[in-house]
Amino acid sequence: MRRKIVAGNWKMNKTLSQGLDLIEEIISASSNSSVLKIIAPPFTHLTAVAEKLKSKTDFAVAAQDCHHLNSGAYTGEISADMIASTGAQYVIIGHSERRLYAGETDEILIQKLNCALASNLTPIFCIGESIEERNANTHLEKIRAQLKEALFQLSPTDFEKVIIAYEPVWAIGTGLTATSYQAQGVHDYIRTEINKKYGKGISENVTILYGGSCNAQNAKELFSCADIDGGLIGGASLKADDYTAITNSF
Ligand code: 13P
Repeated sequence: MRRKIVAGNWKMNKTLSQGLDLIEEIISASSNSSVLKIIAPPFTHLTAVAEKLKSKTDFAVAAQDCHHLNSGAYTGEISADMIASTGAQYVIIGHSERRLYAGETDEILIQKLNCALASNLTPIFCIGESIEERNANTHLEKIRAQLKEALFQLSPTDFEKVIIAYEPVWAIGTGLTATSYQAQGVHDYIRTEINKKYGKGISENVTILYGGSCNAQNAKELFSCADIDGGLIGGASLKADDYTAITNSF
């Protein structure tokens, strides 16, 4: 179901006690219950953060990744089932930092999507082009390829469960936000491609978030675009006031 969402991806930031303090601050600052706020802390904090948020219907918890297999001799890895057992309901899959630093390929990402869905986790699937692709005007081809090679392998029933995050790689952590015109252009393109593959009903219902230097100053303009349903926020999700201001930007 399409809905307004502001997800905070904490990445590799905050110790457990710092994270729990931040959650307390976010809860007390929060004033917009019509927006679903999804908090994605490091794995080590999932159980405690889920416990703190379990009575709040406008909050949910996400992991930042899951392994592509269910169990086995994979030292250091975390499965979708394990994530679900913490009380988290969402999982970010295919973030550009994982594609880059962990070498995640489309084949691996399909397996991750299937594991997440089998564990009843909602995937937040990230796509986005590099600066070179944007400058060469091949960004839409890249987006289409990322959709086709992974997400579009899903059945319509599974695809309907997924949230998409458009995160241009050149905008992540750089302070360079896509303009609302650029972001809306890609979101519209994504919805059109989904329409072609799965039909209008599904394309109108999918939630598509924007991520990449989204902050309290630019969120309102971005969220006012027809095909932008909210944000996937990195740096600005680490400060309760900034994160709350973004949740109030609809
Ligand atoms: P920034 O908001 O820090 O640019 O990060 C965006 C992001 O990667 C969220 O997943």
